[in-house]
Amino acid sequence: MTERLVVVSNRTPKPGKVAAGGLAAALDGVLKQLGGIWVGWSGDFTEQPGEPRHLDVGGNEIVHIDLNKADHAAYYAGYSNSVLWPTFHMRPELARFNTDFYEGYIRVNEQFADALLPLLKPDDLIWVHDYHLIPLGQLLRDRGVKNRIGFFLHIPFPTPEALSAIPSHRHLIGSLNAYDLVGLQAKRDVAALEDFASPVEFVRPRRSSGPLVPVTGVNASVFPIGSDPEAFARMAELPATRKAMATFNKSIADRQLILGVDRLDYTKGLPQRIEAYERLLADYPEYRRKVSFLQVAPASRDTIQQYQEITGNLDYQCGRVMGRFAEIDWQPLNYVKRAYGQSTLAGLYRTARVGLVTPLRDGMNLVAHEFVASQDPENPGVLVLSIFAGAAEIMPDALLVNPYDADETAHAIDLALKMPLDERKERWAKLRADIERHNIHAWADDFLRVLREAPRP
Ligand code: G6P
Repeated sequence: MTERLVVVSNRTPKPGKVAAGGLAAALDGVLKQLGGIWVGWSGDFTEQPGEPRHLDVGGNEIVHIDLNKADHAAYYAGYSNSVLWPTFHMRPELARFNTDFYEGYIRVNEQFADALLPLLKPDDLIWVHDYHLIPLGQLLRDRGVKNRIGFFLHIPFPTPEALSAIPSHRHLIGSLNAYDLVGLQAKRDVAALEDFASPVEFVRPRRSSGPLVPVTGVNASVFPIGSDPEAFARMAELPATRKAMATFNKSIADRQLILGVDRLDYTKGLPQRIEAYERLLADYPEYRRKVSFLQVAPASRDTIQQYQEITGNLDYQCGRVMGRFAEIDWQPLNYVKRAYGQSTLAGLYRTARVGLVTPLRDGMNLVAHEFVASQDPENPGVLVLSIFAGAAEIMPDALLVNPYDADETAHAIDLALKMPLDERKERWAKLRADIERHNIHAWADDFLRVLREAPRP
């Protein structure tokens, strides 16, 4: 029998849709290369769960599951994005700990397990992705699945203190034991998991009387995810991309472009970034009329209150910068709440003199990879990168900044804008080598190799 890869994630590609976020875009290429199926939520709702639907999206076999609307709300907007997302990004104060959320989360994970069961073959390698599906491995084991199952967490792993703020965290993290391999983005994440799993966790007195779940046995390792650098380099040079960028350059009158591309999310440090840009224009007046800052920020998870609030705050902040610095023939900043396809993004990355990737916390941040991949080797732009992005561990030649420090970030933008061509080329060559070493294919190959070889109980 031949091995088949079974990828499972909340999001799956949909025909004709631009994928928001790194996960879906990254996995698409991996599955094409290795062959297999990709199971996930269809994006549609149903009252009664029916049969999964099989479809072909760009050459990949996708299996779609419809979800009940109320369950989906508790699982996605609730537990995944109002409990796990804020807490794992070290913002537990933004979390809403509601018992119904966890119940809905488990119900949907059970539904995924039930849908997967009849699809599985004995030699399948199962690869579960991200925080939406942490308990899935355990639920599959409960149903008798003996296959090797790997799990990859695309977001950061929190410190034990932050994790302990989640009422159900023991049960949740204990379920990681069911996986043969758990992959994390960065060394800091493995250290945090090990810290949590250390015996100290278990001696604290607890009110709840649930069984103590040992997590010391989790087989976890670092597998920094990457991009497809060649594909981005190609897309950046396509005639259609060049043409679109020539028009774009005209619209900013060939000024030096400072670029940010992020989902509209409170982890991305957007208010801090706008503040740093404002500081640049205030403290380095020589850049007024000489630069143009474009922030691409497609809306995200907009049923959740915290996400609605960011939009309002950013509108206000951008308006303030405009009011303070704009002139009739110079717009210092443009903020576009729309998702663009990969070729347009590749063109923008290549056009930019400075790429600002300054999240407050981020699993990896593939924008950093894609920015580097898209540069012109003869005239590369400069990456300003947050020390709190997983990418900082593998890209030491970026200009690394503390995104909370507006002065430091403004200074880094100044350095980037003034950087001589030789230094830009030198830094870029090293970064290009880093992202090539950690490209998406190496990531998948490494993870799956270690999964195949993982010791079994
Ligand atoms: C992050 C997560 C992904 C998620 C993506 C987009 O990259 O790690 O799992 O798919 O954000 O977020 P969304 O909620 O729109 O799927």
